[in-house]
Amino acid sequence: MNHAFHQTILHESSWCEISKSAIHSNVENLRHRVGQSVLLGVVVKSDAYGHGLIPCAQEFLQAGADWLVVNFAYEAIKLRQAGIAAPIYVCGNVSAPQAPAVAHPQTRLAIYDWEVAQALAQAGQAGGFTVPVHILIETGTHRQGLTIETALELAAAIDQLAGIQLEGIATHYADIEDTTDHRFAHQQLAHLQAAEQAFRQAGHDLKVVQSANSAATILWQQTHGAMVRVGIAAYGLWPSKETYAKVLQTFADRGEGFIPHLKPVLSWRARVVQVKPVPAGGYVGYGRTFRAPYPMTIAVLPIGYHEGYDRRLSNLGHVIINGMRAPICGRICMNMMMVDVTHIPNVTVGTIATLLGQDGEEQVSAEQLASWMGTINYEVVARIHPSQPRYLLDDLASETLFSSDFPPAQTPVQTPVPSERSARSMSLF
Ligand SMILES: Cc1ncc(COP(=O)(O)O)c(C=O)c1O
Repeated sequence: MNHAFHQTILHESSWCEISKSAIHSNVENLRHRVGQSVLLGVVVKSDAYGHGLIPCAQEFLQAGADWLVVNFAYEAIKLRQAGIAAPIYVCGNVSAPQAPAVAHPQTRLAIYDWEVAQALAQAGQAGGFTVPVHILIETGTHRQGLTIETALELAAAIDQLAGIQLEGIATHYADIEDTTDHRFAHQQLAHLQAAEQAFRQAGHDLKVVQSANSAATILWQQTHGAMVRVGIAAYGLWPSKETYAKVLQTFADRGEGFIPHLKPVLSWRARVVQVKPVPAGGYVGYGRTFRAPYPMTIAVLPIGYHEGYDRRLSNLGHVIINGMRAPICGRICMNMMMVDVTHIPNVTVGTIATLLGQDGEEQVSAEQLASWMGTINYEVVARIHPSQPRYLLDDLASETLFSSDFPPAQTPVQTPVPSERSARSMSLF
């Protein structure tokens, strides 16, 4: 807990802390994994997995990422508007009407549609540049992508257009993080390799063949190709227990593999807004689902399911206050929740609760929240509402990369990330 920093944001009732040192450490780990000759693409879609798009994108680039990967056209446009010149790859759907706004000589687009290709070519010609595209190959996920034959037809048609250029082919794995049996993923890679061969035989100069997400990047070097698209691991979170188990298994079996030391980037905190006694037999919250078995003290936190704290955590999860676990009592409301602090000394209005992250010896991980909620760590962080200000903590100087003590105790320099709240106050100037 960084008390000096917290003194500088007394006006915030809840916020997220984004650790620069964790970002740099994760990127260094991933760079170590892929080496210098593979492009390290970091996925910053979905508001950088809930961590804050622009500041995280800038920090990932500063830490050594080569490309940024987004899903939608609007995300690429936001990055460009923020002055980011680095290569961007748009891996999701872009429609023909969106082409003029997103077309850019350094923005690569995933493509599987002739109309979109034409629209991009027109936009490129109008702007006097060439739009690089990557054709998506269907290898078994059945989400986006074309059969090899259809992909070759699209590539041949693209070759006839000015303002657009085929740069690569790509696919995405269906079943790599959900299992320790990677035979299906191996088949998908083999199919991509067959596509690559067919493209080269047809005379296409593919600069980038890409498929690897975090799990593939960590587990399986053959997937790296020319570029990896790493999302969750860059935020310091493991893709799954299975991925972790597989890494350990490979290491134990053959003494090979790569065990990254991932450091969670995000902590989520809120201030207690009220402390109140509840008599024995008193109820807490909607539906009276919690009844005090003895006289209790309850703290109210200004966070609810609107802010992204899942209602499924009602009567189930806990937060950390003054280094101790405070179980959730009753239902999570839309903008509030109540926690039991009977056993915790010195809880007053303003005391900080940690919803996700570490306080003293205790930690609530995204994986812990996910397992309580019946979901995955991706969803936990990606659904933290934009109303929660993200503060990028300049804790680099205070921590050696790869050290295990996180968060550090020194004073950070904080960079407020525009959120709904801070954007409103900033517009006053
Ligand atoms: C096409 C594509 N590539 C890469 C990723 C990154 O995956 P991960 O976060 O598991 O690294 C995603 C995430 O959903 C994706 O959709």
